[in-house]
Amino acid sequence: MNIAYPEQNFQTPEATVAGFIGLLQGGFENPENRKGTVRFAVPEHPHLGFRARFADTLLIDRPESDYDADTEMVFPIKTLERMFREFEFLDWRSPDILGTMKITGDLGLAFVVGLSCLRPSNWTQARLRKAERLHRAKGYRDLTQIPRLHQPSQMQLLKAMEDSLPVIITGLEPDPPCRDWTLQRLMDRYADVVVCVRSDDQHLTLREFVEDMSKFDANPELVMSEGLFKPYTEGSALPVEMWDDFGPVFFSREDFIPPQLWFGSVRTDIPATHLHRDPLTGFLFQIMGKKRLDLYSADQADSLYPLKAYNNYQRCWFKPEAPDYDIYPDARNAKCISVELIPGELLVQPAGWFHQVYTLDSPTMSVSYFWRY
Ligand SMILES: [Fe+2]
Repeated sequence: MNIAYPEQNFQTPEATVAGFIGLLQGGFENPENRKGTVRFAVPEHPHLGFRARFADTLLIDRPESDYDADTEMVFPIKTLERMFREFEFLDWRSPDILGTMKITGDLGLAFVVGLSCLRPSNWTQARLRKAERLHRAKGYRDLTQIPRLHQPSQMQLLKAMEDSLPVIITGLEPDPPCRDWTLQRLMDRYADVVVCVRSDDQHLTLREFVEDMSKFDANPELVMSEGLFKPYTEGSALPVEMWDDFGPVFFSREDFIPPQLWFGSVRTDIPATHLHRDPLTGFLFQIMGKKRLDLYSADQADSLYPLKAYNNYQRCWFKPEAPDYDIYPDARNAKCISVELIPGELLVQPAGWFHQVYTLDSPTMSVSYFWRY
């Protein structure tokens, strides 16, 4: 743990809320100079509620009289306690966190506040620093192409991973082949399997999910505006029933953390996943539709403005799809390599590479594995 939070920090509700405020203020950044006011309420302890105002820092107080707020966030005290214990790996989007809170008003402010609570572990920080040193030494920022390896041996792949070099693997012949999937074949085999949408507590059978997807495709504005459905699983757990058909290659299942599913109907003109980097090596199988990834070597962190508050993965303030060089001037120096994945191909992306993902077709499906080591 990079910051020691002694047990007494969450032994009383007062200490828990004071510590939570400390976490928020310590992780808060506001490069885009957003303005706004958030009202925090702790339902079991109304006197511990507070106001947070966005400025260069996060200004906290408890006004005597009522005030206007852009965002209301209601947190049970148990959720706040959990943040102290788990801020190094907590996933805000998981239903057992998000589902306990009530958030209304400007969700953008709530999102910034939510991220401010996170902290990387010492291990994560060390892993990213190591990737930065290695990429600098190898001059990866000047790479213009990622190698495609046709049916490489495990040794060839291990060598690329040791060099922290991304590779696209072609010619994979798992059984069943991973390139021949269609929506129909998926439904024939898995219609009754339950999938979940990561940012929601919905659990749907694949049949229901696909039906909702078609509703979305028919009328995306309506479905989105009514907040009914976000038709993308966003890396939720791959249902166990599907593991055998989409198993890992080159290494055994125990060498990876449980697989994630990226399935659904998404817009192709905006990133499906925003610019970020992961501290683990990722294996991304493309199953349906094409995907494009824009990769930046780890040593370009200074040009991409990564958030200082993060845990499992590190997002960036800079948005390549809508670049603001007045706020992020060093981003002009950033160099990216674009790679396109087609069904049946596997991208092995070593830890620390920044990446932004676009789906080029909809529906889309990928399965990803993170290597444990
Ligand atoms: Fe990632």
